[in-house]
Amino acid sequence: MNRDDFPMLKQDIIYLDNGATSLKPQVVIDKMQEYYEKYSANAHRGDYDISYKVDMEYENARDLVTEFINAKSKEEVVFTSGATDSLNMIATGFFAGLVEAGDEILITATEHASNVLPWFRLANTHGCLVNFIPLDDNLHLTIDNLKKSISPRTKIIALAQITNVVGDVRPIKEIVRIAHENNIFVVVDAAQSIGHMKVDVQDLDVDFLAFSAHKMLGPTGTGVLYGKKELLENLDPINLGGGMNDSFDSPSEIYLKELPTRLEAGTPNIAGVIGLGAAIEYINKIGRDKIREREIQLREYLIDKLIKIPHIDIINLEADSGIVTFNVEGVFSQDVAYYLNKYNICVRAGNHCAKLTKNVTGVTNTLRISLYFYNTETEIDELVELLSDKEKIVSEMI
Ligand code: ALA
Repeated sequence: MNRDDFPMLKQDIIYLDNGATSLKPQVVIDKMQEYYEKYSANAHRGDYDISYKVDMEYENARDLVTEFINAKSKEEVVFTSGATDSLNMIATGFFAGLVEAGDEILITATEHASNVLPWFRLANTHGCLVNFIPLDDNLHLTIDNLKKSISPRTKIIALAQITNVVGDVRPIKEIVRIAHENNIFVVVDAAQSIGHMKVDVQDLDVDFLAFSAHKMLGPTGTGVLYGKKELLENLDPINLGGGMNDSFDSPSEIYLKELPTRLEAGTPNIAGVIGLGAAIEYINKIGRDKIREREIQLREYLIDKLIKIPHIDIINLEADSGIVTFNVEGVFSQDVAYYLNKYNICVRAGNHCAKLTKNVTGVTNTLRISLYFYNTETEIDELVELLSDKEKIVSEMI
């Protein structure tokens, strides 16, 4: 689907590592190049024509994000350097001022480091407890287990919408409903979901949501922090500097701008933000429902073939996303990745930055295929053929 739009696919590669980063369509690359070639001025700082053009393009990207996630207003959309930056801003800028010793934060063992470490830090600095919601036999989060994990001290539930190793899609709307009934804030890491399914922050009623541009066809180094306006008003800027202040004369006289500018200190990644806007337009043209449908089709095709290979252990047989995680029996995952690389197949191996996942899967390292709509059945056939022959893997892996 739409493969001609992706310059990277003109090479002889099979790219199956979209969970790490997605490929970029030509329109995104062109849009960023256009900025550097035709109106490469700073944003919100100049009084000349091309600086107005930059402001317009930058704020147009914010409008596109606002509509894409259905935020109530553009004040709720803050540009960051990525999901990691956004999650750290939420934990350190908002919750550090709110939590008290003994408060509890609920996460799961299958979260990415970016949705674990900021909470661990809060535990260390504020005496909070980070507790883990138990997962079921399929490594899924159930509403029943969520309910059982909530205590009167639970203040925050922080979850990936789609986890990056197990690939399960969490019932965020239901989770938020239960959380709010118990006066608990919900933070959603949408890094793996935003480019793959519809995400409507008003419908989900999430308090905060974080994502990166580069996993949704956009550039690296750019991301979004969404927060309900009344919450963002109380988020302390981690960075102070140019662009975000109205005036300052002394330590006691610092006046900050309104949202969202207040949370965007320094020159932002202008090309990145504009590129993200182009990525959204591109995704909108295809349609997120269509993207999701195609990925599920590809997943089923892959699982159907992998399951027939006796030496393949699939870790997440039941997941409902384009993420398929497995091991070749008795072979170190990185050796298999190295073997596939010889055939120009790009997959990720290891712990995938989700280092606590081993506590529930029992395996430290895995191979991960992460599909996107531009992958094909033919690519999957080539992968499966190479994986079917264990002797070949073992003899060629080093
Ligand atoms: N978070 C990215 C991944 O899952 C890098 O691969």
